[in-house]
Amino acid sequence: MTHVLVTGGAGFIGCNFVRHLVRETDVRVTVLDKLTYASSEASLADLPADRVRLVVGDIVDEGLVDGLVATADVVVHFAAESHNDNSLTGPRIFVQTNIVGTFTLLEAVRRHDVRFHHVSTDEVYGDLELDDPDRFTEHTAYNPSSPYSASKAASDHLVRAWVRSFKVRATISNCSNNYGPWQHVEKFIPRQITELIEGRAPRVYGAGANVRDWIHADDHSSAVWRIITAGRIGETYLIGADGEQSNLEVVRHLNVLFDRDPDDFVQVADRAGHDLRYAINSTRLRSELGWRPRHENFHDGLARTVTWYREHEDWWRPVKAATEATYAQKGH
Ligand code: NAD
Ligand code: DAU
Repeated sequence: MTHVLVTGGAGFIGCNFVRHLVRETDVRVTVLDKLTYASSEASLADLPADRVRLVVGDIVDEGLVDGLVATADVVVHFAAESHNDNSLTGPRIFVQTNIVGTFTLLEAVRRHDVRFHHVSTDEVYGDLELDDPDRFTEHTAYNPSSPYSASKAASDHLVRAWVRSFKVRATISNCSNNYGPWQHVEKFIPRQITELIEGRAPRVYGAGANVRDWIHADDHSSAVWRIITAGRIGETYLIGADGEQSNLEVVRHLNVLFDRDPDDFVQVADRAGHDLRYAINSTRLRSELGWRPRHENFHDGLARTVTWYREHEDWWRPVKAATEATYAQKGH
């Protein structure tokens, strides 16, 4: 496997994955990215030019996709519209990119018989009660809540159908909430960190009881590469690091890291249809493929992430004010 095509490689998890490949392997990487508002060329700028090439383009562009897929040994598909709040105000682009884009890639890997890995989310399973003893597994029924998660569920179904009907050599992973460097400030953790750096209190949707299962983006990357190199074709693997935290627990801990009163936060308008709890059982990935997360202590990982945002103000500051202006319009 010498040439990897990474869609969405200028986004948060995609750029962490490209960095993982540069560090841990000797493959060549082509990134195909539309450079939407969620991306940043700067996230790839320091990587060696003889290992990483950026092609700016859209995954729904059949001609462009066909030419790139034809030269690749494997396609790793991260590109997506990824933010639930945006999917509530403008769902059309989620259908276009997440469903039609995945379809376009699947047709290209079918034509050229190229290995495909589809990066998906635990949100396709809907949500859990706070006291549900069961966590999501590969057998949990699909039950998405938002236009974003419905579009990701649809894309998963396309991949499964292309495996069964056309024998496309594909795997799927469904991962829980990622945190770490290079994440857009619209997302929960970087939004709160950058609010705190600016001297403002964290902003919590509703009562803050919602639980997310946090995993460091490095661990997501190592799991995806493990599935690509050792996973069974046609299988789905859930990726998680046993990192359940309520939103209140996260903001309280961030306040402590900034030497503030833990309970100094602002409650803002809740998200429509807000999923209560996600939780992953990653037994299959661990027992079958021997994968383990490296960042097992969430509080340590959060502290390192705070340091990263403090040291990379030049990266996030240009988009911070506009992001907050959009949130203000929505009452968040
Ligand atoms: P992101 O929004 O940070 O990045 C998405 C990238 O895709 C951006 O660089 C964007 O420019 C690119 N893109 C968007 N539309 C495109 C198009 N039509 N053509 C080409 N490129 C396009 O997203 P992320 O948080 O890094 O998520 C990456 C993937 O991982 C997504 O598929 C998402 O569903 C999945 N995922 C995310 C999380 C999470 O916690 N963030 C968890 C599980 C799964
Ligand atoms: O579970 C995986 C999913 O995690 C991915 O598929 C999505 O792409 C990714 O965006 C993420 O979805 P969430 O909706 O869980 O992430 P978000 O960062 O938007 O919000 C996390 C939680 O924090 C959620 O309960 C909403 C809440 N929240 C969010 C923001 C932005 C707040 O309380 N305050 C905020 O300011």
